[in-house]
Amino acid sequence: MNTATSTASIDKDTACAAGTAAAAPRVAPVRIDIEQLTLSFGETTVLKGIDLSIEPGEFFAFLGPSGSGKTTLLRAIAGFGPTPRGRILIDGADIAGRMPWQRDVGMVFQSYALWPHLNVARNVAYGLEERRVARPEIKARVHAALELVGMADYALRYPSQLSGGQQQRIALARTIAVEPRVLLLDEPLSNLDAGLRVQMRQELLQLQRRLGITTIFVTHDQEEANTICDRIAVLSAGVVQQVGRPADVYDNPVNEFVARFLGTANIIAGHTQRTAAGIVFASDTGTLRLPLADDAGEGRGHLVIRPQGISVAPAPSEQTIAGTVRSAEFLGGATRYNIEANQLALLVDIKHIRGAPDLRTGDQVALSIPPAQAIFLAA
Ligand SMILES: Nc1ncnc2c1ncn2[C@@H]1O[C@H](COP(=O)(O)OP(=O)(O)OP(=O)(O)O)[C@@H](O)[C@H]1O
Ligand SMILES: [Mg+2]
Repeated sequence: MNTATSTASIDKDTACAAGTAAAAPRVAPVRIDIEQLTLSFGETTVLKGIDLSIEPGEFFAFLGPSGSGKTTLLRAIAGFGPTPRGRILIDGADIAGRMPWQRDVGMVFQSYALWPHLNVARNVAYGLEERRVARPEIKARVHAALELVGMADYALRYPSQLSGGQQQRIALARTIAVEPRVLLLDEPLSNLDAGLRVQMRQELLQLQRRLGITTIFVTHDQEEANTICDRIAVLSAGVVQQVGRPADVYDNPVNEFVARFLGTANIIAGHTQRTAAGIVFASDTGTLRLPLADDAGEGRGHLVIRPQGISVAPAPSEQTIAGTVRSAEFLGGATRYNIEANQLALLVDIKHIRGAPDLRTGDQVALSIPPAQAIFLAA
């Protein structure tokens, strides 16, 4: 990236006037299109025909288990690693031939990668010095970036004198200082303790909203992705399994992998049949028959029911399933029961209310599964 293009891409007139963000320039948001991206390390193909479109200003997550290709995909966008096949477009322009610094893309690495021998201000100035930005402008931009992450008072400290969370903010300030058009964050919160993670993810979100910068956030933590991202792409083995808003993907997983990866699910193998009473699911065990919504497909497949989709009815009826409580896990807001019902082990979450009696091991219960809570995934 040269300074001319970077400055051109910043609309200083739209700088946010709120609080310390007054000095923060807003970036004209860009769109990212990834088309049929395939990437191999030697014989091993780790990205297999990725198609994704990320909207201008969107906070987008790549979510997937270890080894699914999240970092590889992020690095391909930034211009690191082997040359992929397929196309990456930023605002319609193919960036294939551009070196990393010509892409207007800022990446925050999981390890932060701060220079230990440089103080905070010099660390943040580093990318600007490399781009030969004039001294007075470097000073102003370093200060603005540090203000933005609430670290202006730490300019003269060295990385070793900072906590993990503070180092993370400096890494972020260093990337923002060069005013990239795209922010790529590779598991930026993974080194922080649970409390700081929750605080930092909200700070990240606010910062992203203030800057309006198209951001891709890589994580294997579904809660992290769900809480701050506009949309997520669930990756497995180098393939995008599903893209959507977190709640939509959670409620309507397209396959068993996504259902299991986004939260806990009861998954029961079986088949559906149209009967006079509507669509009915029958488990392979032959012990469960359940009416489903009318639009459930017919054939073989799996039924997905979230633990909170099953409730305990006040009394048994024709619509309920008899079960026996086998074990319980107290989760704070809810208790998760393992209930044996018709030879199936079902996880059932019951909201925990202070003072209300909990179920005990051995208790007999009547379970209710409303059709809307059961998702049928055809095989
Ligand atoms: N330089 C490399 N050479 C060979 N194989 C690699 C290289 N980098 C990554 N891989 C392989 O590519 C696959 C995807 O790796 P990647 O780092 O993208 O996964 P990830 O989703 O980021 O995982 P994690 O959550 O553990 O960071 C893995 O199987 C990994 O072993
Ligand atoms: Mg990774």
